[in-house]
This record gives sequence, structure tokens and C-alpha cells, in this order.
Amino acid sequence: MTIVKTIEEVRAQVKAWRAQGLTVGLVPTMGYLHEGHQSLIARSVAENDRTVVSDFVNPIQFGPTEDLATYPRDIDRDAALCESTGADLIFHPEAEEMYAPDFCTYVDMDHLTKGLCGKTRPIHFRGVCTVVSKLFHIVQPDRAYFGQKDAQQLAVIRRMVRDLNMPLEIVGCPIIREEDGLAKSSRNTYLSAEERQAALCLSRGLNKGRAAIEAGETDAAKVRQIITEEIEAEPMSRIDYVEIVDWNNLEPVDSTEGSILAAVAVYIGKTRLIDNFIIER
Ligand code: PAF
Repeated sequence: MTIVKTIEEVRAQVKAWRAQGLTVGLVPTMGYLHEGHQSLIARSVAENDRTVVSDFVNPIQFGPTEDLATYPRDIDRDAALCESTGADLIFHPEAEEMYAPDFCTYVDMDHLTKGLCGKTRPIHFRGVCTVVSKLFHIVQPDRAYFGQKDAQQLAVIRRMVRDLNMPLEIVGCPIIREEDGLAKSSRNTYLSAEERQAALCLSRGLNKGRAAIEAGETDAAKVRQIITEEIEAEPMSRIDYVEIVDWNNLEPVDSTEGSILAAVAVYIGKTRLIDNFIIER
């Protein structure tokens, strides 16, 4: 496995693979990899001849008061995980390699990016769409792998690929959880032991909501209330949102009978955590 820092080096390697008729999978990440990322890499390795992992903390998807400076980074640990999982290449650029000082071209999206995380993170999805488009142009993969934990991101990228006729397949992969239910996230490292325990209210609330649907509840407002009450019962929690939306267009729904995404964002102390479940019908 090789680590490269320039776009030119990625292009040269991918060109050589293409010349041999090999297929290429891409796993875009911001590094500090955990078992969630590992499951994406493993899936790409299983489905493609070669796998590229991008490891880049993308500055333009962070708002001015967000955690860009403190976002955890550890390229040596990431490299070991990628190598042991079978990745072939890590693309680990500096910000200057991705964004020229006079960079001014962005990929933006209406509708799907306005609700859920878009409400409190107004520039986030423009940054995500822009960097992911750049990575698609740089690597030109056959498939790219994204986790369902960032469900809105997955929906946004699928829509971008459809709307802009990008020639690749987007593969969504299930949420990977700790044994006690907490969704794996690089940001879990911010939590103290007490906060880590409190953070279980997200998955507990979502489990109760899902159980209510499975027991026949079709009123989205009631399911939302069930999830909200469980999260609010945890004194260390502060809800950003609890939403039930149509999984295809992310618009709020009244009934849970179609394909739905139930998504939550909750502050535990200063750390904002997200989690969700999807029911596809
Ligand atoms: O999900 C992430 O880690 C990031 O948003 C992504 C897709 C790598 C873009 O920077």
C-alpha cells in the first residue's frame, strides 16, 4: 500500500490500473479511521480490484465555530488500518493541494441540504459536495462508499451523482455500532467517560421509535415524541433535532408508512452526535 499527497500521483496510479483493465473503488474519509470506515474499505476491497482511501480533513465543510482545528488526526494509525484491510492507496493531500489560494468554484444543492444538519450547518453540504466532486474527478472510481451514519450526506451525494450525471455507483453501507449501541464516530473521542454513557440516549431513543413503528404506530409525530422523550430523559443531552423525513427527498412526513429516515442530532456536553435509522419500503 502506498500513501501519496499529490493529485498527479493519484492520477498516475489510477491510470496504470485502468490500463490493466482493473476496477477502482473509492472510500472518502476525513481520517481518524474506526471500524465504521473499515467496513467501507472492506466492502470496496471485496467489490473492486483496487481501493483508494482519501484521508483529508476538508476545511470548507466546517463552519467558523466548528471543530476543524481540533478534529482528530493520526495518519500512521489510519495507514495501518487501511493496509490491514486491503486498501491499495491512501490519498492524503494538504489543504493547499486541494484548494488553490484563489479557489472559487463550488458544488451546491437546494432542498435536500436545507433541513436536518443543514439547518445548523448552512455551509456544510456545499463543502461536502465540492470536495466529493473533486475526489470523484481526481480518482474517477467505478464505485464510492459512504456510511449510513451520515444519512443526509448519503442522500445528498446520491442526488448530486444523479443530477450531474456522474459516471459511478454510490454504495451506502450500514451503521457500525459499539456493543452498547453507540454509533461509531471519530467524534466519540471527544466524550468523557460520563458523556460516553450519556450518549447512549441517541440509540436508545431511536430503538424505541423503531419498535413503535414495528408495533404498528404510523403517526410520525408520535414516533418523534417517543424518540424525543427518551433523549430528553438524559440530563446531559441537548437536542438539535429529532426528525422523521421521506428517505427519498428528506421532506418531513406525517406518516411512517413509506420509506423513511428517522434522524437525530444531539449535543452531549460540547460534542454534537448524530444517529438514525432508515426503513425502506
Ligand atoms: O463523511 C466524511 O467523512 C466527509 O464528509 C467526506 C465524505 C469524507 C467529505 O469530506
